[in-house]
Amino acid sequence: MSERINGKTQVFGVIGNPIEHTQSPLIHQLFYEETQYNGTYNPFYVQEGMLHKSIEGMKGLSIKGLNVTIPYKVDVMKWLDNIDPMAQIIGAVNTIVSCDDKFIGYNTDWIGLKMACAYHKIPLQGQDCVIIGSGGAARSAVVMCLEEKVGSITLLNRTHEKAIQLKKEMQALKKEIPIYSGTLEQVGLVKPHSIAIQTTSVGMHPYEDRSPIVAQEFFQNVDFIVDIIYNPKETLFMKIGKEYHIKAVNGLSMLFFQALKAFEYWTDITLTTSQINRCLQRLEAIIYYQTKNEKVNVNE
Ligand code: ATR
Repeated sequence: MSERINGKTQVFGVIGNPIEHTQSPLIHQLFYEETQYNGTYNPFYVQEGMLHKSIEGMKGLSIKGLNVTIPYKVDVMKWLDNIDPMAQIIGAVNTIVSCDDKFIGYNTDWIGLKMACAYHKIPLQGQDCVIIGSGGAARSAVVMCLEEKVGSITLLNRTHEKAIQLKKEMQALKKEIPIYSGTLEQVGLVKPHSIAIQTTSVGMHPYEDRSPIVAQEFFQNVDFIVDIIYNPKETLFMKIGKEYHIKAVNGLSMLFFQALKAFEYWTDITLTTSQINRCLQRLEAIIYYQTKNEKVNVNE
């Protein structure tokens, strides 16, 4: 059980609008309980036009760290003192670390995806990857793939122009990894034994009956599926994949690991493998099989 709030409690939180659906307080609470860390993590609703004031206020209050969510991941960058190079490349900050009274912006989304792939033993190095979507989440996925030295990246997106634009930008970063682009219909571009990373919101609750791609030719060439959606637990995209005997994982572990990396940045505490497993299992239990027995103690 984590400690009660006292004078030494470190304050963290997430800023966004809307904010009531965030799972981050729950995840960080699990870390605090697991490590006996004296911290508290709160949702902060930031009104439109109040972002700069909020950041200054957080600094004034010596807040140790913040997460940033929709719609402020890009806008927040202009109010920070420094931005980590990877966050700069992705063009979005989801984690702010207070260091010597300066606010430094990081992006742990791509690290979360990388750690989730490692956790599920999904090999990346030298593998052909196909990324569905070309928005913000796809950018993190491309950066992760480039960092992990995949064999090739194929971007499939509803709007081909956006995929072409992302391809151009990312290809300039690492010329040796070929990047291809196409529409969601151009499934013939997918190389055999590809790893598919689904980054769109298609299939998310309450639209569980939707899948960005249903073509047989696509699934025949895919060995692993990572879907960034975690609600529902199994998207239609994952369900179709399973019919083709494809190993499919949802986005909960990615969400978990991006939070873990933020916790590490803020506290310098590294969880052991068994601590990580315990926290992730508890999170899954709470999110998917919430029972009266599984109760997270909020600062008790
Ligand atoms: P995020 O930051 O979550 O990635 P985003 O930047 O708005 O959000 O990107 C959303 C992605 O989902 C885009 O690739 C978008 O495709 P378009 O570029 O064509 O808009 C994709 N997307 C959203 N709704 C979609 C739908 N109904 N069908 C197919 N793709 C969709």
